Amino acid sequence: MKSIIAASIMSACALAGWGAGNDITVRADRAGAVVQPTMYGLFFEDINFAADGGLYAEMVKNRSFEFPQHLQGWRAFGNVELRSDGPFERNPHYVRLSPSGHAHKHTGVDNEGFFGVSVRRGEEYRFSVWARSATADTARMRVELIDPSTSRRTQVVASAAVAAAPGEWRCYEAVLTPDATVAKGRLRIFLEGSATADIEHVSLFPADTWKGRRGGLRRDLAQKLADLHPGLLRFPGGCIVEGTDLPTRYQWKNTVGPVENRPLNENRWHYTFTNRFFPDYYQSYGLGFYEYFLLAEDIGAEPLPVMNVGLSCQYQNEADSAHVPLDSLQPYIDDVLDLIEFANGDTSTRWGALRASMGHPAPFGLKYVAIGNEQWSEPYTQRLAPFVKAVRERYPDIRIVGSSGPDPEGDKFDYLWPEMARIGADLVDEHYYRNEEWFLRNATRYDGYDRRGPAVFAGEYACHGADGRNYNHFNAALMEAALMTGLERNADIVHMATYAPLLAHTEGWQWRPDMIWFDNFGSVATSSYYVQQLFACNRGERVLPATMDGKPVAGQNGLYASAVTDGDGGFIVKIVNTGDTPQHVNLTFAGLKKKRALETVVATVLSADDPLDENTLDNPARVVPETETLSAAITERDAVALEVAPHSFGVYHVR
Ligand code: AHR
Repeated sequence: MKSIIAASIMSACALAGWGAGNDITVRADRAGAVVQPTMYGLFFEDINFAADGGLYAEMVKNRSFEFPQHLQGWRAFGNVELRSDGPFERNPHYVRLSPSGHAHKHTGVDNEGFFGVSVRRGEEYRFSVWARSATADTARMRVELIDPSTSRRTQVVASAAVAAAPGEWRCYEAVLTPDATVAKGRLRIFLEGSATADIEHVSLFPADTWKGRRGGLRRDLAQKLADLHPGLLRFPGGCIVEGTDLPTRYQWKNTVGPVENRPLNENRWHYTFTNRFFPDYYQSYGLGFYEYFLLAEDIGAEPLPVMNVGLSCQYQNEADSAHVPLDSLQPYIDDVLDLIEFANGDTSTRWGALRASMGHPAPFGLKYVAIGNEQWSEPYTQRLAPFVKAVRERYPDIRIVGSSGPDPEGDKFDYLWPEMARIGADLVDEHYYRNEEWFLRNATRYDGYDRRGPAVFAGEYACHGADGRNYNHFNAALMEAALMTGLERNADIVHMATYAPLLAHTEGWQWRPDMIWFDNFGSVATSSYYVQQLFACNRGERVLPATMDGKPVAGQNGLYASAVTDGDGGFIVKIVNTGDTPQHVNLTFAGLKKKRALETVVATVLSADDPLDENTLDNPARVVPETETLSAAITERDAVALEVAPHSFGVYHVR
């Protein structure tokens, strides 16, 4: 990493190759629109193994034996039988382990986990299993964590005994503490003794989860989300809201209540791209709507659930018959109304009582709901209208997010925006996965938007580099920062923005770039993560006009800029230099109160040696922000001189 902050003023253009002086005027006396607390948020979708195998810390794949190939993820040995009259109505399958009939032959099952069962030496892992003895005697089992590839004397790195009593199904627990670190391990359960055991919902979690919650979230990943200080959490998708077809759409009611009885759903991303094919990608719903609301609360973000509008994925289902007929939408509308009751209803209501029974009697304070993901044309608008009417009638304070389709321009987009206004959506969700040139061009996108219509939610966006640069390099993040100065400048109508996708497993991704990459042991924040974090942590309070030659700073000499008040008498100016040359910037704070003189400038700058640098699990700190006080940058009572490095994004906090 190189030092990228020029710590002192230099006479303008003193350095060879420096661009001419750039005079940016910030109107300190013209505080405009409030930057909404929801402005910089997160979009979580279970893509790239973001939930099972990712944020949801469960380590056992197919824990309820409900994958269509019921033993997928498992290896059975000995006398193993799949049965379907288990204790959990919506997950009826389980396995019966019976003695092999020979003292030296064993019966059991191994689970391969998500890309391995990965455990660290000395850490605790909580094993649990629902079990019973199917015979008159106690059924004895051994549970082991094993390293199949080891050259050690033993494969076993942790072991515990479980004894299941005859009769009722019960949950048995054991803590496993491995004596070695294993990256590609397995969980093994096998029978000891002569009794027969039935086992169901086999689970293994690290004891050290986010906030120490049992059955909770991976701590490193949840912490990274919290560290972004997001104002919004959009969930659960994305395309998984729609499913590949209606039966596989996301149904929130299947994701609440005891985890053992949440029915499995396939994950549409397991076969969407056949070049990245993951036939074992399913949704256990262990991370369900209750957990999403809790996460939003934990990280201080407004929850924004996205609901199905009665349409399956329109890319994959063109026939009308693939969608819900207009006269049969009521159950879908009820899903939205019931969700609002689940989040906000008091404990005397049906769904509010369920929320309370799960551990949260206080309402979650839901304010927003999105209806439809990337939908388009009349099939969408005809369906959306009755949803809006029903929500307005029952919950007039809930703000509704509609869609502008999958593209940020074109016929679908042009049709949908006026339709969203007509139907009465409060916000319109725009998605843009575009290249560098598009991002820079669209830094002025919202300057001309109609201020009388719905507000904008940039619900999914990321710079997808052109010409094979479709990954998380620094330059993509820089393009995003440039565009985001345009979001901030237009905070009067842009109220929410969420980069997408959020999480990706290095061994299980379908889509890139993504904001955070992880494997089973660790995670890495990309340059895009740091851009998001710098905007969110420096959201400020109100927008200030920032101009160069009387125009918004959007491309002059490769510069992009926005400015806000900090809410405490100071100013935050964000400057992106997309060019190859350093730029000398004179910032003048026009209209500063007469008795006021600027005192300090603290610069936090994100830059890279090479614009194509990226952070990786092996080298996570190649591109990280650096903070420095620019003690000599104040040139006048109301003026600051900065040397802005090429290919850099800087946040300048001026007080
Ligand atoms: O973010 C990945 C996908 O991109 C989302 O699921 C979908 O809404 C969009 O097409």
